[in-house]
Amino acid sequence: MPYQILVLHGPNLNLLGEREPEVYGALTLDEINRRIETRAREASADVRFFQSNSEGALVDALHDARTWADGVVANFGAYTHTSVALRDAISAIKIPVVEVHLSNVHARELFRHHSFMSAVCPGVVMGFGWQSYILGFDGLIYTLDAREAGRVTPGLQTRLRN
Ligand code: DQA
Repeated sequence: MPYQILVLHGPNLNLLGEREPEVYGALTLDEINRRIETRAREASADVRFFQSNSEGALVDALHDARTWADGVVANFGAYTHTSVALRDAISAIKIPVVEVHLSNVHARELFRHHSFMSAVCPGVVMGFGWQSYILGFDGLIYTLDAREAGRVTPGLQTRLRN
């Protein structure tokens, strides 16, 4: 049975392509999703996509994912830096959520340096534009394979402590 993966996009990411392309790149969200789909096909994984500008809708999507998904690749956008509710949802669902960002948030304003999510994710990828999603996807597959083989990855160990 192929892995079932949810790719979650948070607020303002629906505007990719026109939104600050010098920071986030020129690809639209649809174009990024098509590239993730290609990678998923290569990895024989099934992937679904969801984007919302609403915190509650993203919480609901995580809750729903626990009923069908093996793991999640998520760019929570600005909620990364503000949302205890989304962090609690990640902790609650017990499937791995890999955090991704197009930009390197540590090279930007101070308020972007803190993530509520990172401590409850097996890993984080940032700074590689749309490729962050691909690298995050590969990291998630690595984590799921390790879990299936009974190996404990550093990320999973961290997650067990949180
Ligand atoms: C972002 C970084 C966040 O700080 C910002 O609010 C975003 C996008 C990124 O992908 O680089 O909306 O998550």
